Amino acid sequence: MAIRNIVKKGDDILKKRSKEVNEINERVLDLLDDMRDTLYESGGVGLAAPQVGVLKRIVVIDVGDGLIELINPRIIEQEGEQFDVEGCLSIPGVYGRVKRPARVVVEYQNRKGEIERKEGTGLLAVCFCHELDHLDGILFDEKVIEFVDVEKE
Ligand code: NI
Repeated sequence: MAIRNIVKKGDDILKKRSKEVNEINERVLDLLDDMRDTLYESGGVGLAAPQVGVLKRIVVIDVGDGLIELINPRIIEQEGEQFDVEGCLSIPGVYGRVKRPARVVVEYQNRKGEIERKEGTGLLAVCFCHELDHLDGILFDEKVIEFVDVEKE
């Protein structure tokens, strides 16, 4: 078990585009394991590799239905819209409402290199979009429609 440091906003790495994973080797598998441990330790619902300082297109998510590991994910379908409040482990204490699709389908590789698809609605759809944005150097606060004081809600 290894907890990695979470990079905070202000670090340039969060603005960079992550690279495709061409080979799922030991380093990639170790990264996935560490990202899982780091996600659970932090209490978040999603974590993208650039948030632990690695510019690879890798994401881990758990919205309460078990761990999802995504390698080279891309959104292949989306529809509808929702306006939920988001936060980010890299921007502590900041919350805001963001427009996202109500439903997305993501295609990705699992840790065996097999191509899979997963549909997400509600929080999972938000999470897919938020974490995939990280892989393109986009932070959620750039998209916020209305910042929210979570303490008061
Ligand atoms: Ni985030």
